[in-house]
Amino acid sequence: MLVSMVAAFFVQLILRKDIIAAVSWEEWWTYDGISGPAFWGLINPEWSLCNKGRRQSPVNLEPSKLLFDPNLRTLHIDKHRVNGAIMNTGHSVIFTVDNDTRHHINVTGGPLSYKYQFQEIHIHYGLHDQFGSEHSINGYAFPAELQIFGFNSQLYSNFTEALHKAQGIVVISLLLQLGDLSNAELRLLTDKLDRIRYGGEEVEVKRLSVRGLLPETDYYMTYDGSTTMPACYETATWLLLNMTIIHDKLLTKSLIRLISCVINIVEQVDTLNGKQCPSMYKDVHYKANSWRQH
Ligand SMILES: *[C@@H]1O[C@H](CO)[C@@H](O)[C@H](O)[C@H]1NC(C)=O
Ligand SMILES: *[C@@H]1O[C@H](CO)[C@@H](O)[C@H](O)[C@H]1NC(C)=O
Ligand SMILES: *[C@@H]1O[C@H](CO)[C@@H](O)[C@H](O)[C@H]1NC(C)=O
Ligand SMILES: *[C@@H]1O[C@H](CO)[C@@H](O)[C@H](O)[C@H]1NC(C)=O
Repeated sequence: MLVSMVAAFFVQLILRKDIIAAVSWEEWWTYDGISGPAFWGLINPEWSLCNKGRRQSPVNLEPSKLLFDPNLRTLHIDKHRVNGAIMNTGHSVIFTVDNDTRHHINVTGGPLSYKYQFQEIHIHYGLHDQFGSEHSINGYAFPAELQIFGFNSQLYSNFTEALHKAQGIVVISLLLQLGDLSNAELRLLTDKLDRIRYGGEEVEVKRLSVRGLLPETDYYMTYDGSTTMPACYETATWLLLNMTIIHDKLLTKSLIRLISCVINIVEQVDTLNGKQCPSMYKDVHYKANSWRQH
């Protein structure tokens, strides 16, 4: 079954050579269907960690099984505002800080032994309100998940390099719940979504406070895992804040409207026809035994 699906995928690629000639392998992954996470390692040998890795993210967290670690400190993130741009990459929505920012936002403390430099924010959301987050808690997926990425700026010179190096990346994850309240900084990002409805579109975001995105809590869960996009490098320290940000239903609607346009390259693959677009739900098959809770 598995083999035949993969074979079908390659056939599609060959038939569609005209269309995808300019598209690299890296653009051929999605979060669902036959090019979804379970197949990433088969699509490209360099992504074998996605299938064979032992510290793969995301995971399902079970708070009752967490271990308390008294050595964990409070997480610190610089408060100042930065400029950047929010882009529809065709896979997801990413805010990237301007590369000429003089005053980098540093992330320290928590479980981190090094200083990390804020680089970008990924927004994950689903076709359906309930299944947008990558991480789940007790099997429950949230409508959306915001992931704040930083790289180890004491050991590495940039994000790209740090991605595949030991202790390279920190990811602070916020699970978003539906409700009436909306975080002002989150709105700064989501207000722009209507202007980036197609893959490749990008729009400026001025004066974003990354610290302001975070809920007021000192509590977090942490584990050593991987990046959740290919090549699934096992270089990420994850922190999940023990509180969910609330955002309103309108917001989800605009996220969902966006996703129907995001996947326009993939829609050309016949096998995905009939489905409007891939959801970002990823099967969770790995469980850690060393959850630590502050
Ligand atoms: C910042 O990014 C732009 C566009 O990607 C590039 O042209 C420029 O050289 C970069 N600047 C620095 C300082 O890296
Ligand atoms: C962040 O760290 C860098 C490098 O160590 C330093 O130059 C910068 O001033 C720090 N930023 C803040 C806001 O303290
Ligand atoms: C990142 O750093 C590496 C190693 O120093 C360098 O080779 C590479 O060109 C840098 N990449 C970017 C995008 O600046
Ligand atoms: C963290 O969240 C879990 C699950 O919602 C809850 O049971 C626990 O009391 C929270 N811990 C703290 C320290 O807030």
